[in-house]
Amino acid sequence: MITPGGPARGTKIVAMGHYQPAKVLTNEDLTRIVDTTDEWITSRVGIKERRVAENETVADMATAAAGKALANAGLTPYDIDQVIVATCSSIDRCPNVACRVANNLGITAPAAFDLNTGCSGFEYALATADHAIRAGAARRALVIGAEKLTDVTDYTDRTSCILFGDAAGAAVVEAVADDEEPGVGPVLWGSDPSKGSVLTIEGRRGYIKQDGPTVFRWTQTELPKLIAETCRRAGVEPSELGGFVAHQANLRIIEPLAKKLGATNAVVARDIVESGNTSAASVPLALSKLIERGELTSGVPVLLFGFGGGLTYAGQVVRCP
Ligand code: COA
Repeated sequence: MITPGGPARGTKIVAMGHYQPAKVLTNEDLTRIVDTTDEWITSRVGIKERRVAENETVADMATAAAGKALANAGLTPYDIDQVIVATCSSIDRCPNVACRVANNLGITAPAAFDLNTGCSGFEYALATADHAIRAGAARRALVIGAEKLTDVTDYTDRTSCILFGDAAGAAVVEAVADDEEPGVGPVLWGSDPSKGSVLTIEGRRGYIKQDGPTVFRWTQTELPKLIAETCRRAGVEPSELGGFVAHQANLRIIEPLAKKLGATNAVVARDIVESGNTSAASVPLALSKLIERGELTSGVPVLLFGFGGGLTYAGQVVRCP
C-alpha cells in the first residue's frame, strides 16, 4: 500500500511499455546511401535493421510508450505525479518533452522534466524517480527514454549512420509496500567529462559525431569494473542475474561483457539486432520487449546499465516486474 506524500523505503518497476515507428531501415537499404555492406555492419556491430520515425516526434513516441506502460500497470493518468523523459535528440525543447507527454496523456500537475545524459539517460532518470519517491517528493512516476536519433544522424558518415534508430521505452515506478523488498537497487552513476569530445551532438542542428574506436576501448577497460560494482551495491552476484540489459551500442561489447562478468544464467538483451542503437531508449525498449515476449520471469534480478555521451554511465539492478 502506498503512503501518499510520505517517504518510502524503496521503489519498484510496476510495468514497462515501448514504441517503435513502423518504417524499417535495413542494412541493405543503407548500402544504397553510403559505402557499406550488410556483412561489415553485422560483424562489427550486430545490427540488422533499425526503425525510422517519419512524422512522429520524440514526444509522440514517448507518449505511446508511456501509455502502454500505464495500461500494462492497470493504472490511469490520475495515478501519476512525476514524469521524467531522458532524451538527447529532441529538437523541440520548450515545453519540454515531459510536459508534452503529460498533456498528451492527460496527467494533471505532475513534476515534469527532461534529463540529458546521452545513452545512460534512462538509468539516471530511474534513479532520480527512485530517490524522489523514497524522499516522499513523488508518489508514482513515469520514467521514459525516447529518442529520434535519425534527426541528428549524418547520412553521409558511414561510421555513424549505420548505428542509430528511433524508439521509446517507459517504466511505471512506485513505492513498495511496507512488507515488500525494494525492486530498484542502488544506482551507480558517474562520468568521465575529460572524454566528452569523443561523442558529441553540437550546434543548432548538429549531428552525432563519434570516435567509435576510442569509445570502444573505454568500454573494454571501464564497463567490467562499473557493472561489477553495480551488482556488488545491489548485493547480487552476476551469476544470480536473470537478465542483462546493457545499452545496445554493439553486440561485440554486450555479449563478451556478460560472459566476462559471469552473468551465465542471465537472458542477455540483443535488441540492437532489430533496433540499432536508440540511445536513452535502448535499455527500456529492450527490457520491455523481453518482458512482453515472456523471456524474463517476474521477480528475477535484472541488470540495467547505460553508457554514452559525456562520457556518462549509470546502472542499477532491478526486480523484473
Ligand atoms: N561500412 C564499411 N566500412 C566501414 C564502416 C561502414 N559502415 N564504418 C567504418 N568502416 C571502415 C573504416 O573506414 C575502417 O577502415 P580502414 O581500416 O580502412 O581505415 C574500418 O572500417 C574500421 O573502422 P573502425 O571505426 O575502427 O571500426 P570499429 O570496428 O571500431 O567499429 C564502431 C565502429 C562504432 C561500431 C565501434 O567502434 C563501436 O561500437 N564503438 C563504441 C560505440 C559506443 O559504445 N558508443 C557509446 C554509446 S552510443
